[in-house]
Amino acid sequence: MKIGVPKEIIEGERRVALVPKEVAKLVDGGFEVQIEAGAGSGSFFGDAVYREAGASIVDGAKAAYDADVIFKVRKPEPSEVGLLKAGSMLVGFLEPLTSPDLMKKLAEAKVTAVALEAVPRISRAQKMDALSSQANIAGYKAALIAANSLPKFFPMSMTAAGMIPPAKALILGVGVAGLQAIATCRRLGASVEAYDIRPATKEEVQSLGAKFIEITLEEEELEDAGGYGKEVSQASAQKQKEVLAEHIKAADIVITTAAVPGKKAPVLVEEDAVKGMKEGSVIVDLAAETGGNCTLTEAGKTVVKHGVIIHGPADLVSEMPVDASGLYARNVAALFEEFVKDGELNMDFEDEVIAGSCITHNGEVVNERVKAQL
Ligand code: NAI
Repeated sequence: MKIGVPKEIIEGERRVALVPKEVAKLVDGGFEVQIEAGAGSGSFFGDAVYREAGASIVDGAKAAYDADVIFKVRKPEPSEVGLLKAGSMLVGFLEPLTSPDLMKKLAEAKVTAVALEAVPRISRAQKMDALSSQANIAGYKAALIAANSLPKFFPMSMTAAGMIPPAKALILGVGVAGLQAIATCRRLGASVEAYDIRPATKEEVQSLGAKFIEITLEEEELEDAGGYGKEVSQASAQKQKEVLAEHIKAADIVITTAAVPGKKAPVLVEEDAVKGMKEGSVIVDLAAETGGNCTLTEAGKTVVKHGVIIHGPADLVSEMPVDASGLYARNVAALFEEFVKDGELNMDFEDEVIAGSCITHNGEVVNERVKAQL
């Protein structure tokens, strides 16, 4: 079976779906691997190291797509969909819930589409959890961006000229990215508060040495069966904003990571709350690409509003491409291994990981949530 890895064509995307270490393992396992020339350059993996790992280097996307299985990072652009062969498998971040029309096109092209976002979050599938591996990087980078642009120290400093208190960080949304942001802010010496709608996060926040902000909402259930946060009512959203405004006002840094899968990001920081912050404070909004947790965020930009520096980073994980690609490649290869038995594809829909992550097969959209969107 031949695996092809094309170069990512979205502007700003520096990751590559396979790194040489994973190529070597796949080649050892009896697979043929072909990499488009230059595909790894954004992640500092040159063609020569792929060749050494046993891959062949092919020129151009058309040649790279001439394979049985395609590993990608981003969902295919229209120009790429036409290059996928009927009967081939495509594995990547395909954004199935927000791109149902693309899923339909992939089904029509008889492509077996496998989405990393749809891998169930069960213990067995942790090694395939690319959402987590990449969110962990985003959380770390968000803390570094905050530290770098804050016009103050993060840690408490005792100097001959006086004592400098530690910076106050507030983390909103404590999933994988939020937890890493807390841990990184703590390591840098900030004092940290955090909030999430899922009560289960309280202990995790406290175990990292941060203070948890409790807000009682009218909903009885704030976590779905997959462990994700749920969308809250308007009344609850209002209450959150009111309580959080006081904490936002006191913070030097606000890092927001709140997300509800398949939905626009919840708004937690309104303009009035930003107005209440001290000049020179910093907001890093990791939800910028899905609408932003702060109403003043501009995706892909850093803006200064009411004296507050607001970062809306896009492609944040691409700023750490070596580890982002390395972890992603491990996730993708681990997921692919689930689909293989005795060197052949084995579409066992009784398997929870296969049934969850496979979106199209045999010319049909097979994922129920995506079907409901069509
Ligand atoms: P995510 O990126 O979907 O969302 C980030 C956070 O935002 C979540 O913690 C969510 O509760 C929170 N949020 C949503 N609406 C909010 C609001 N209005 N106000 C405040 N916070 C809000 O989440 P992520 O990082 O993908 O993790 C989701 C869950 O999955 C977590 O429970 C995590 O521990 C769990 N998980 C389980 C794994 C496993 O068992 N294999 C692996 C990784 C994560």
